[in-house]
Amino acid sequence: MQALTFHGKQTISYETVADPGIEQPTDAIVKVSQCSICGSDMHPYHEREKGLDHGTVMGHEFVGEVVEVGSSVKALKTGTQVMSPFTISCGNCFYCHEGLTARCVNSQLYGWRQSGSGLHGGQAELVRVPLADSTLLTIPDGVSSEEAILLGDIFSTGYFCAANAGVNPGGTYAVLGCGPVGIMAIIGARELGAEKIFAIDSVPGRLSLAEKFGATAINFPRTNPRSIIDEETAGRGVDAVLEVVGSAAAGRSAYELVRPGGTISTVGVHTESQMAFSPVEAYDKNITYKIGRCPARYYMEKLIPIVQKKKYDLASVFSHKMLLKDGAEAYRIFDKKQDGCMKVLLEI
Ligand SMILES: NC(=O)c1ccc[n+]([C@@H]2O[C@H](COP(=O)([O-])OP(=O)(O)OC[C@H]3O[C@@H](n4cnc5c(N)ncnc54)[C@H](O)[C@@H]3O)[C@@H](O)[C@H]2O)c1
Ligand SMILES: [Zn+2]
Ligand SMILES: [Zn+2]
Repeated sequence: MQALTFHGKQTISYETVADPGIEQPTDAIVKVSQCSICGSDMHPYHEREKGLDHGTVMGHEFVGEVVEVGSSVKALKTGTQVMSPFTISCGNCFYCHEGLTARCVNSQLYGWRQSGSGLHGGQAELVRVPLADSTLLTIPDGVSSEEAILLGDIFSTGYFCAANAGVNPGGTYAVLGCGPVGIMAIIGARELGAEKIFAIDSVPGRLSLAEKFGATAINFPRTNPRSIIDEETAGRGVDAVLEVVGSAAAGRSAYELVRPGGTISTVGVHTESQMAFSPVEAYDKNITYKIGRCPARYYMEKLIPIVQKKKYDLASVFSHKMLLKDGAEAYRIFDKKQDGCMKVLLEI
């Protein structure tokens, strides 16, 4: 089959690799129809996350059709159109029962292979899905394949960020970073009733999209977010910051913008080795800090009805549609935010 594979820093190849096959009776093989590039793919791409084996098939956002199932797969049949969370999960362990499917004891992330083991990704014609019955979901009526891809990662992640922030109708919030996940966090916050949301970024096109979804845009560093937020909150700061970047600078801004007793909720993947604020700084502001990988399998089921209502044009985050064969170029365009690139959908 053809796939996008990793070959070192900023090097993605479209090449022929072996077709995946059933390895365990609980596996399924999915023929991918569409997949997408995530901000998270940029961490191994730039080797901020190190250790990814060369030759690994990239990507963890895809939809497609089940074309083969292992002997113990019960819920899925060949021909079913499916969506997938970005990690696999067993549905049976303590964490799966708690709704923390991202920390399932059998969890694996698509597109992460290290020292010869792990799971290939979904930016390919075919993908092997272990624990298929408890991982995959049939794409329900009223959910487009683009929306199904977003449910599998970034809509779930944005909503999770808002839920962790304790968003409620009366509060004032700041979303740091208006990339695709930040936009989904704004939508998640809206869905949880938030009316006052400040959206902070430096990319005008991204701020415009944030405004379209009801946030008040602040273009930093042109404008100092703190001064605007102070005016709205009698100098206190926001009740919660939704930090959707994953850098030391953003971590520090989150600390500066949150009020005493407030919450910092971050889904940004932080690859630096230290927190952006010290224990005593956290103490002195009575801060609650929530961080981590989204349990997408848990959230996607819960969020299906929101998608079916079509209240938000979720798919508008896809600024570019390209072919899988042009994937290496798609990575470059996405990385450089060329031509206003927000998120790339790859058709097989
Ligand atoms: N926790 C999870 O489960 C999970 C899931 C998906 C993605 N992520 C992570 O979420 C983060 C965002 O993903 P994305 O696809 O939207 O990425 P992105 O890179 O497209 O967006 C990040 C945005 O933040 C802005 N930004 C950079 N520095 C900033 C700062 N100091 N203050 C405010 N804004 C700043 C950038 O201009 C950009 O628009 C990434 O770290 C990604 O890995 C986490
Ligand atoms: Zn992703
Ligand atoms: Zn589990």
